[in-house]
Amino acid sequence: MNNWLNLEGKVALVTGGASGIGKEIALNLSQNGMKVAVGDLSFTNISDDDFDGDSFHLIECDVTNLDSVKNMITQTIERFGKIDVLVNNAGINMPRLLVDVKGEHPEYELDERSFDKMYLVNQKGAFFCGQAAAKEMLKNNSGVIINVTSECGLEGSEGQSAYAATKAAVYSFTRSWAKELGRSGIRVVGIAPGIIEATGLRTLEYEKALAYTRNISVEQLRSGYESTSTTPLGRAGKLSEIADAVAFLSSDRAGYIHGVTYNVAGGKTRG
Ligand SMILES: NC(=O)c1ccc[n+]([C@@H]2O[C@H](COP(=O)([O-])OP(=O)(O)OC[C@H]3O[C@@H](n4cnc5c(N)ncnc54)[C@H](O)[C@@H]3O)[C@@H](O)[C@H]2O)c1
Repeated sequence: MNNWLNLEGKVALVTGGASGIGKEIALNLSQNGMKVAVGDLSFTNISDDDFDGDSFHLIECDVTNLDSVKNMITQTIERFGKIDVLVNNAGINMPRLLVDVKGEHPEYELDERSFDKMYLVNQKGAFFCGQAAAKEMLKNNSGVIINVTSECGLEGSEGQSAYAATKAAVYSFTRSWAKELGRSGIRVVGIAPGIIEATGLRTLEYEKALAYTRNISVEQLRSGYESTSTTPLGRAGKLSEIADAVAFLSSDRAGYIHGVTYNVAGGKTRG
């Protein structure tokens, strides 16, 4: 069935691919026959043993640093000769209230430092990687950029205004880059996950902060992950469900899908 996608021999670069959604995407694309470069800060949760064969390359990269991004692109080209697919996936989330009205946890009020951190990784990092990869794709008049955003980027989210704003920017990158790059044979699409099974992002600190911003306990927050009032399908999404959607969008089977973002969110929001 993998052949249906015809991804064999193509080259993917997945940012933030050492953990969670990005790791699942990297492994899925590799299993579909792609050569896969993974860019991330470190590789404690992924190793050579996770991949079959040797058509993968782990590259240390900080997406907020332009020289580091350029080095990731150079290493990918030196190893695999081209970039067919960029998955712009690296991201962080620090739940913060605009104003800590209760005044019990001032550390969960949005400040300049947390705002800048989320902006730098989620928005500026996506720009650096998108631009550097597009320059390589333009040499072949071919390529696909897949931006990983979040359904909250359109919907907004209590306790996550700064995070949601960075993801709204990524929706906008997708629409605008599609208008700029389509005529050069480069497709640009987005994926917007909803609540997904646990990844590195869902730390206890993340859950404590998010629960506080919503005036509920961590236990109540967790029970919401599987509730139909939160997500009509009544369960968190599987990592494989995100990765399968990315594999499809990477392929020529999605050849006329361009400038749009797909919700993979169990109906949480309809985007
Ligand atoms: N988990 C969810 O429920 C969910 C929902 C919607 C959207 N998302 C988005 O999916 C993407 C992946 O998140 P995840 O849940 O797999 O989290 P994760 O923490 O498991 O993975 C994120 C990866 O990004 C990497 N990263 C962070 N900063 C980086 C930097 N400066 N340079 C390079 N790499 C960096 C991390 O090291 C990590 O490996 C993110 O963009 C996130 O916003 C996740």
